[in-house]
Amino acid sequence: MINKSSIVLCLMLLVGINGGLVALPPGSPGSVAAYAAAAQDKPAPEPEAKAWTAPDQEAALARAAETVPFVEAVMDECKLCRQMRLRETGLSTKDITHSYFVLNSPIINKVEDHYGPVRFMHSKHAAQIQDCAMCHHYRPLDADAKETTRCSACHQEAFRPEHPERIGLKAAYHQQCMECHRDMNQGPVDCIGCHNKNVPDHKDKVQLAANPTPFQVTAECLRCHEAAGQDMLKTAHWLLKGPSPYTLGHRKEVEIGKSTIATNNF
Ligand code: HEC
Ligand code: HEC
Ligand code: HEC
Ligand code: HEC
Ligand code: HEC
Repeated sequence: MINKSSIVLCLMLLVGINGGLVALPPGSPGSVAAYAAAAQDKPAPEPEAKAWTAPDQEAALARAAETVPFVEAVMDECKLCRQMRLRETGLSTKDITHSYFVLNSPIINKVEDHYGPVRFMHSKHAAQIQDCAMCHHYRPLDADAKETTRCSACHQEAFRPEHPERIGLKAAYHQQCMECHRDMNQGPVDCIGCHNKNVPDHKDKVQLAANPTPFQVTAECLRCHEAAGQDMLKTAHWLLKGPSPYTLGHRKEVEIGKSTIATNNF
């Protein structure tokens, strides 16, 4: 995730490197050792080519892939009793261990997997709601268990004959997340507010020879995305026609696109 502070950090790093303020470790590209290696015709070690991902995203994805054992016995207490008890124990935002979750459980994906993972800003929610029991509505009967057990410990498959009173994990999320968003009139209730389409990895899809021409690349995409190609033909990018409300002296001309005043070889 890119936020303001990471942009500032990047800028600081850039300034630091340009200003010679940052000491590079020996062997890193640009360091004295790297230049010396290049001068002796020894290739400097290649930096490892790996896409960068935010560390908290990697940790969240790893957690999302975990499954926990099913909890059979649940402590029987009324909602208000639980809320009061948790308040008395002093459970609060300081007890939050993970401020950000990715919800993408193998329990659900085994049955259906139409969408990518769902982002859940845990700390932001807890700070706004100030009541852990609103979501962590039950705890296991086991005295050693945590008050804030994961939903997936008690909600798993859509129907479990021994526990017909418990809805499945997908329904548990949908019902709790959407009901509150609806009640509070805040947070998404439409599908795309929480879900991205599961876009397949294009590494296996796109088939191109080495050094393709731009035309070959376009043709390859069109092999599968014909409709997107048709849409493009109706846009101002393709027609190069359209109003120019921001072009001084041409504000009233309706069609001042390149197509009317220049030859288009695009
Ligand atoms: C408030 C957030 C939220 C909204 C709004 C929402 N969902 Fe979900 N949905 C989730 C969460 C969380 C999961 C569980 C993800 C997991 O653990 O795999 C999920 C899981 C699913 C799954 C199963 C997993 C998958 O990838 O296929 C489907 C299907 C689904 N949702 C469809 C919908 C549809 C259709 C809508 C709109 C009517 C919708 N959702 C709206 C949060 C939401
Ligand atoms: C808006 C709903 C919501 C609120 C409010 C909330 N949580 Fe959570 N919490 C969740 C969800 C969802 C998870 C992830 C559950 C999962 O992975 O199945 C979670 C997970 C946790 C976990 C990790 C559990 C584990 O075993 O890994 C802890 C700890 C936790 N919450 C503590 C708290 C505390 C303390 C509060 C109150 C200050 C709080 N939460 C408020 C929804 C909420
Ligand atoms: C310790 C076990 C346990 C945990 C953890 C748990 N639940 Fe439940 N949940 C239950 C039980 C038991 C029911 C059955 C409802 C009843 O008997 O009233 C239930 C019912 C529900 C319902 C149905 C409506 C309702 O509120 O009664 C929703 C929605 C739900 N859970 C969502 C969640 C979500 C989301 C989480 C995680 C933040 C979660 N549950 C964590 C045990 C648990
Ligand atoms: C008890 C109420 C409540 C529950 C339960 C709840 N939310 Fe929210 N949610 C909110 C509120 C309030 C906001 C608006 C917060 C803001 O934008 O400042 C919000 C905002 C959001 C947003 C948009 C802003 C953001 O932080 O990205 C997403 C996405 C979201 N919720 C996902 C979820 C998911 C997924 C769940 C279930 C695991 C869930 N919420 C459960 C109250 C709730
Ligand atoms: C062998 C088939 C195939 C080829 C070739 C292909 N794609 Fe895709 N692409 C898909 C499928 C399947 C999806 C997911 C379904 C969808 O969104 O239409 C997708 C989704 C996408 C999406 C996400 C669309 C959305 O709605 O979120 C983009 C962007 C995309 N492709 C770009 C490209 C580009 C650029 C090329 C050429 C370099 C390309 N694709 C070549 C099959 C292909």
